[in-house]
This record gives sequence, structure tokens and C-alpha cells, in this order.
Amino acid sequence: MPDIAYVNGRFGPLAEAVVHVEDRGFQFGDGVYEVIRTYRGRPFEVEAHLARLERSAAALRLTWDRAPADWAKVVDEGLRLSRFPETKIYIQLTRGQAPRDHPFPAGIPPTTVLTFRELRPLDPAVRQAGVSAMTLDDVRWGRCDIKSLNLLGNVLARQRAKEAGAFEAILIRDGLVTEGSVSNVMVVRKGVLRTAPEGPKILSGVTRTLVLEVARKQGIQVQESYVSREELFEASEVLLTGTTVEILSVVRIDDRPIGDGVPGSVSKALMRGWESLIG
Ligand code: PDD
Repeated sequence: MPDIAYVNGRFGPLAEAVVHVEDRGFQFGDGVYEVIRTYRGRPFEVEAHLARLERSAAALRLTWDRAPADWAKVVDEGLRLSRFPETKIYIQLTRGQAPRDHPFPAGIPPTTVLTFRELRPLDPAVRQAGVSAMTLDDVRWGRCDIKSLNLLGNVLARQRAKEAGAFEAILIRDGLVTEGSVSNVMVVRKGVLRTAPEGPKILSGVTRTLVLEVARKQGIQVQESYVSREELFEASEVLLTGTTVEILSVVRIDDRPIGDGVPGSVSKALMRGWESLIG
């Protein structure tokens, strides 16, 4: 089965899916999105993702007449049609199509797009060895808690990381670590797992919440407080969390080794906890 898309109520091949050039998603990035993945063919944490989609949409005053349960049904229908071993599902909602003008147009329906593509898991050897990251200034806007389609700051950061041969860009604002370009960042210092607090400077990751729960259950001390740039480099372990990366150790940052330069014991314990959570 090829990749498929759902556009404004209709399923079809992704290769044939189109939206209008006057769509505000294209013109302004005026919309929100979510990424959901499956484990064993079943969508993971759908309710949490749809709740965040609603929060993001409400923050943009974007309304539509569907209940979250209806989106869950579309997700299930797409999975039934696509039948990949594992699937990456994108839900993208825009304010709709109207002649280009900044203020909200009146009385137009939102554009809704869902895509279903095969998810190819990260190479287990990469996960075992850990990845490298680079630090970059966080130049994004002041509402990173909204999962908006405007991802230019993230795109530019990830591209810089790619060009530097790094897996992820770790973003730093006013000397403090916020998050990665596509992930949340956690740090282990003196046995304590620390990560930036929820708020407008980070996207509150679904994975972040679950990983913190796993840590607390394992008796690991958790602190939701900002880590400074200096503390990042002195950390014994650094890890990334997110729907696509799951839990991934960072073993080098800006060409300096973190801890022993290999995935540490807390990261490994969290990965084991994660495996049983999704299993
Ligand atoms: N990104 N922070 C940012 C900037 C992200 O883009 C993501 C996820 C996360 C982690 O959120 P979650 O655990 O809910 O996936 C944090 C997705 C995967 C993406 O844009 O592809």
C-alpha cells in the first residue's frame, strides 16, 4: 500500500494529495499539527496528542466542528487503509483557504490534512551508540508551546546540525537550554534528571511527560528546571525525547564528550522502562 492522505474528508494516495495555493497554511504557516506514531500497529497516546492539538488550535483561535474522538476515528480508518507494520501519522489543520490578507477570513472552513506514512525505526546501532548534537541560539518566537506549522527556526537549526554532522540541535536561550529542534532535552546531573519546565519556551512533549513518569516510578529524582549551558557540558548524561526519537542518548555536544562518551546508566534504565511501557 502506498502512503496515503486524508484531505478535507477524503482519503487518497499521498502523491495525489493537494491543497490550494491560497491556503493559509502555505501563505502564513497559519495552522497547527501533531505527529502520532504507532507501536505494534496501534496509535500511541492518541488522546494526549489530540488534547495538545486542541490546545494549539485554541491558542491560534482556530476552530473546527469536530470532536477529538472524530479525529481518532479518522486515524483508525487511515491505519486500516494503509496497513504498514508501523506508521507515522501527521495531522495538519490550517485556517483554510482565502485571498491573501493577514486578518482571519470570515466563514471559511479549516483545511484538514492527515498523512499516513511508513515509519522506519531508527537504526538500533545508532540508538546503542548514542548521537552527537550541536548547540545553537534559540531564535524561535515566544510561543513554542503551540505546535504551529511555523517551524522555520526549527528547520534552520536542524539544517545547521545536519551540515555539522550532528543528529540534533540543542537550542539555548539566554544561556539556558530550552529543547531540541525536534525533541525535548533532558540532562542527568548528580543523579538528578532535569529538563526545562513547561511554558511558552518549549513544546511540552507527550514523550517528555511519559519519560518523567517512568523516571519517578524508577525512583530517579526529577527536576523541571532550566539547565544552563555550562551545566549541559558538565552533565553525566544528556538525552533527547520525542515521538520519533523516543529516548536517545546524546554522547557528544559541540565535539566535546558527555560523561563517558557512551549512553549512561540512567538513560539505559529509562530506555528499558520505555520498552515495557510501549510493549
Ligand atoms: N516533534 N520539541 C519539539 C520542538 C518537537 O518538534 C517535538 C516533536 C518535541 C517532542 O514532542 P513529542 O514527545 O510530543 O513528540 C519537542 C515531532 C516529532 C515532529 O515535529 O516531527
